[in-house]
Amino acid sequence: MLSFRLRPATMADMKSYLDLANDPFVRKNSVNSSTITIEEHEKWYTAKLNTANSLLLVMEIHEAFAGQIRFDVDEETAWIDYSIRPEYRGQGLGAALLQKGIAEIPKLFRKTVQIAGKVKKDNLPSAKAFLKAGFHEVENLTDTDASNLRLFCKTIPLRNLV
Ligand SMILES: CC(C)(COP(=O)(O)OP(=O)(O)OC[C@H]1O[C@@H](n2cnc3c(N)ncnc32)[C@H](O)[C@@H]1OP(=O)(O)O)[C@@H](O)C(=O)NCCC(=O)NCCS
Repeated sequence: MLSFRLRPATMADMKSYLDLANDPFVRKNSVNSSTITIEEHEKWYTAKLNTANSLLLVMEIHEAFAGQIRFDVDEETAWIDYSIRPEYRGQGLGAALLQKGIAEIPKLFRKTVQIAGKVKKDNLPSAKAFLKAGFHEVENLTDTDASNLRLFCKTIPLRNLV
């Protein structure tokens, strides 16, 4: 498998995030599938980088932007969003990105004990990556939008919360 590293995102990554977010397969698998404008993205990205409740990590391969993983923390859960550039998909990097990203959580969100991801039902690569990374699927969702989504969760053991 290709090796990669994770580093914190910066303002310089804004365009790379937009390009990846507007990739057709990423839009198709997002809850809101419409194309994102530069103006919307600038506002969203700046806010995400500047809140302590989100952690944005860039996946780098050969020192170039290859993907991203983000955690948005609410009271008890870190919600995951992750994506990989098209040329690097299908090589087993999905689960590896989840695992490496999750390893960063205890350093930053000390109270978070649960991590979770919502996956569209037809998004098999993502569902498989979550399972491979040790997540379990939560059945019987009661969410209003649950008919289209699967929920994957993982609990971080308290002993890892330094
Ligand atoms: C989700 C994503 C990061 C996964 O990464 P990936 O490189 O495509 O997936 P991987 O190569 O790690 O493969 C994961 C599993 O899915 C399987 N898979 C890949 N493509 C598949 C397909 N079209 N149909 C069924 N299974 C597929 C792989 O065989 C692998 O399973 P295995 O471990 O049993 O062999 C990537 O597909 C992506 O960027 N998708 C667009 C954004 C997105 O959907 N993000 C997640 C939102 S919840």
